[in-house]
Amino acid sequence: MKIAAISPNTGHLQEIGRVLQAHGHQVTLAEGGKSRMQAIAEREQPDLMLVDGMCCDPDEVLQIAAVTARHPALAVVLLCATHTPDFLINSMRAGVREVLPSPPTAQALQEAVARVEAKLHGIAARSQGKVLAFLPCKGGSGATFLATNLGWLLAENASVLLLDLNLQFGDALSFVYDSKPVSTLADVARDIGRLDASLLAASTVKVTPRYSVLAAPEDPSQAMAIKPEHIDAILGVAASHYDFVLLDLGRGIDTLAIKALDRATRIYPVLQAQLPHIRHAARLLEVFRSLGYGQDKVELVLNRYEKSSEIGLDMVQRSFGTARIHTVPNSWREVSASINQGEPLPSTARGNAVARNLADLAAALNPRQDDAAPGLLGRLFRRA
Ligand SMILES: Nc1ncnc2c1ncn2[C@@H]1O[C@H](COP(=O)(O)OP(=O)(O)O)[C@@H](O)[C@H]1O
Ligand SMILES: [Mg+2]
Repeated sequence: MKIAAISPNTGHLQEIGRVLQAHGHQVTLAEGGKSRMQAIAEREQPDLMLVDGMCCDPDEVLQIAAVTARHPALAVVLLCATHTPDFLINSMRAGVREVLPSPPTAQALQEAVARVEAKLHGIAARSQGKVLAFLPCKGGSGATFLATNLGWLLAENASVLLLDLNLQFGDALSFVYDSKPVSTLADVARDIGRLDASLLAASTVKVTPRYSVLAAPEDPSQAMAIKPEHIDAILGVAASHYDFVLLDLGRGIDTLAIKALDRATRIYPVLQAQLPHIRHAARLLEVFRSLGYGQDKVELVLNRYEKSSEIGLDMVQRSFGTARIHTVPNSWREVSASINQGEPLPSTARGNAVARNLADLAAALNPRQDDAAPGLLGRLFRRA
């Protein structure tokens, strides 16, 4: 890989150069600070830029953001001798891939470089699957139900992996399957050094031939061992091997959730037509804006919506300005029955209004070739 390293410290530069060259990388070393990033990115066009120094000055975040905006394929890894929490979160928003302590150990450096390399090759190998993230604006919004059932429908025409990222008390698998998983996300995280597509596939439960679910840890204490970088690595492998990767997230936005949301093609915050839900949804949209997510990345899902409800769709829409809203009807009895039996709703009640709504959403997300055939003739033949 082509790597540029920038540091005010010649000792650090020499050590970084030694480690990387020993691993066969093509390395450029430059003495200086973050102000040199832009010129070096332009001149050297590296795959990876390692930038060593202090991580405190907010102006430097702007310099980083300018470089990542101009060179979206460039991976930037910071090496921080000291740092402020603000600097770290803002630099993540500015597109920094990872932050390591400075000077890094040879092992930490190699591992970070290997992660960037894996991602680079993954992207080159195959077009990426779509990553769809569902998260509840309040507990009980219906995020898990919608994600698991949409996954089942998408898997009729595509390969689908659902990751249960409710690490503490995730139960997504039980919505569509009525046995326990043999392995979980905790097992994959423990074996992260061996992670590849086959390890990932072997750790999932096959709900249908094309629908796999990677369950949350059985035991909340195992959840503690799962780190944002594990999720990042798993998502990297998943997106390059499945057509759709669905994420069932919990309520809180922590660094782990941000890692996952960064990777999402689309985020579906799920809410119901009640004021506390609307307030939480508005706050979430605010967070997404500050993370730099564009409006087209987010689509609100107004679940259990009934025309007769006190807060109507027009009022909900007014609360969110131009944000897109998808509504899903209410169907308490059949939805509850499906969850209690661990059977996807569309498999037992295809004609149910919620099942039909999700089938339309799946079709919009994965337009099939024959449906795209234009012209009257095509339509006539299909009808026949
Ligand atoms: N469209 C719907 N109609 C009726 N009930 C629903 C619908 N969607 C979800 N539910 C109910 O809401 C409850 C909570 O759903 P769940 O997916 O666990 O929420 P979350 O993951 O957002 O916490 C479920 O038990 C289910 O019965
Ligand atoms: Mg849930």
